[in-house]
Amino acid sequence: MTELRVGLLGLGTIGTGVARILIEQKDLISRRLGKQVRLIAAADRDLGRDRGLDFTGVRLCDDANDIVSADDIDLVVELIGGYEPARTFVAAALANGKHVVTANKALIAKHGEELFPLAASKGLQIGFEAAVGGGIPCMKALREGLAANAIESVYGILNGTCNFILTKMENEGVDYADVLKEAQALGYAEADPTFDVEGIDTAQKLSILAAMAFGSKIRFDEVFTEGISRITATDIQAAHEMGYRIKLLGIAKPHGENGAVDAVEMRVHPTLVPLSSQMAQVSDSYNAVQISGDFVEHTMYFGRGAGERPTASAVVADIMDITSGFPHAITHLAPPMGFVESSRRNIPTMPMADTVCEYFIRLMVKDQPGVIASVTSILADHRISLEALTQKERHKSHNVPIIMLTHETTEGNLQAAISRITGLDAVEEDVLILRKESAVA
Ligand code: HSE
Repeated sequence: MTELRVGLLGLGTIGTGVARILIEQKDLISRRLGKQVRLIAAADRDLGRDRGLDFTGVRLCDDANDIVSADDIDLVVELIGGYEPARTFVAAALANGKHVVTANKALIAKHGEELFPLAASKGLQIGFEAAVGGGIPCMKALREGLAANAIESVYGILNGTCNFILTKMENEGVDYADVLKEAQALGYAEADPTFDVEGIDTAQKLSILAAMAFGSKIRFDEVFTEGISRITATDIQAAHEMGYRIKLLGIAKPHGENGAVDAVEMRVHPTLVPLSSQMAQVSDSYNAVQISGDFVEHTMYFGRGAGERPTASAVVADIMDITSGFPHAITHLAPPMGFVESSRRNIPTMPMADTVCEYFIRLMVKDQPGVIASVTSILADHRISLEALTQKERHKSHNVPIIMLTHETTEGNLQAAISRITGLDAVEEDVLILRKESAVA
C-alpha cells in the first residue's frame, strides 16, 4: 500500500494529539484513503515528558533540522507556533521537497505570501486548516464547498478565550478583570492574555479568511483591531436590554462595482449581534464562522476552535488530503488560498473611517441638567440619528452611564462627533464605542 511518511515538529498539546490520531486511528485512515499515513519521526526539545503514547517505531529527536532534511520524510507538520523558528523550518521543508501542514495562524498571516509561491513552484501543498477555527473545517468549506460563489461576507467568533470571558461576564454579571483571573486559573487564558483579549489572534485568522474569500493577498497588518478589555458588565447588561449580545467578531466584506472587488473591509472588535441570531447562541469557548455567498446565501460552521483533539483533527485531515494524491504531484486539491496563485490580487484594505455601522456609545457623565442636550446636539450637528438612549443608575463615583444606539453613519463621522463629546466638561471618562451588526444570521 502507498505510504506517506510524516515528520512532526513539536510534541506539545497539538503535536501529541496529531501523534495520537496517527497511531490510534491508523486503520480508519487507511480504510478511508486506500493508502497509509505513517508517523516516522518527531522533534521536541523536551522528550522526557510522558505523553501517554507508545512511540515504538517513531524516531524521536530534539533537533527540528533532522526532520526537515530527512530523506525518509514526505510531509512535515509544523506545530511549534509563532514566527521564528517556525518560518525557517517550513521554508527549509519546502525547499527540501516536503509538503507542509501547520496549525500556525501567525505564520500564515504574516509569511503565507512568501511560503505559498515557494510551495507552488515545487508542486507542494501547504495545509493550514487548523490555523483558523481549530477543528471546524471552515476553510475547506470556503475553498471547496462554496467555490461557485462570490463571497459577500464573513463573520467569525474566532477566539475561544474571548468568547468564554464574554459569556461568563454575561451569565454571572461580573466584570472583565475578575473573569480573566478565573480563566487564567482554569488554564483557558494565557498568563499574558494580550494576544487573545486584544483581538490580535482574531485579526490573524480573519486576514486569512478574507484573503481566501475574496482572492486577495493576506494583509494582517491592516486589519482594524480592538479587543474586549474595556467592556464592563454594565455594557453587556445594557446591550442585552436593547436586544443584543456582545461578541468579539472578525468581519470581512468586499466592496466594488459590477462584481469586481476594489477594496476589502476587515475589522475585529466587540460587536452587538441580535439576541435572536445564531451567532448570539455561540457561547463559552466555542467558535463559529458565518460565510455568505451570492448563490448559497448564509452558511454557518460551529465547533471547537482550540484544544488538543479538535485542532489535531484538522491537522490530520490536511495530511489525509495530501496523502490522497500522493505520490503524484498535488493537482487534485484546490489551491491553498482558494484561487490559483496567478489570479490572487493585491486588493487594498478599505480605510476604517469609510466603514458604515450602527453604534453603541457609552458615556460616563456628571449628573447635572443639560448634559444629554449637549451630547445630542453634537450628534445632530453630525447628522447622527439615535435609535435608543438610556440612562443607567448612578455609580459610586456619582457619575451616570448614558448608553445610546445610533442609526448608520460612517466611522469617520462618528469619531469626529465623539471627539467633540469627549471634550464636554460633563463627560467624565473615556467614551466606549461598540459597533452593531444586524446582518449576522
Ligand atoms: N488562543 C486561541 C483561542 C486558540 O483562545 O481561541 C488558538 O487559536
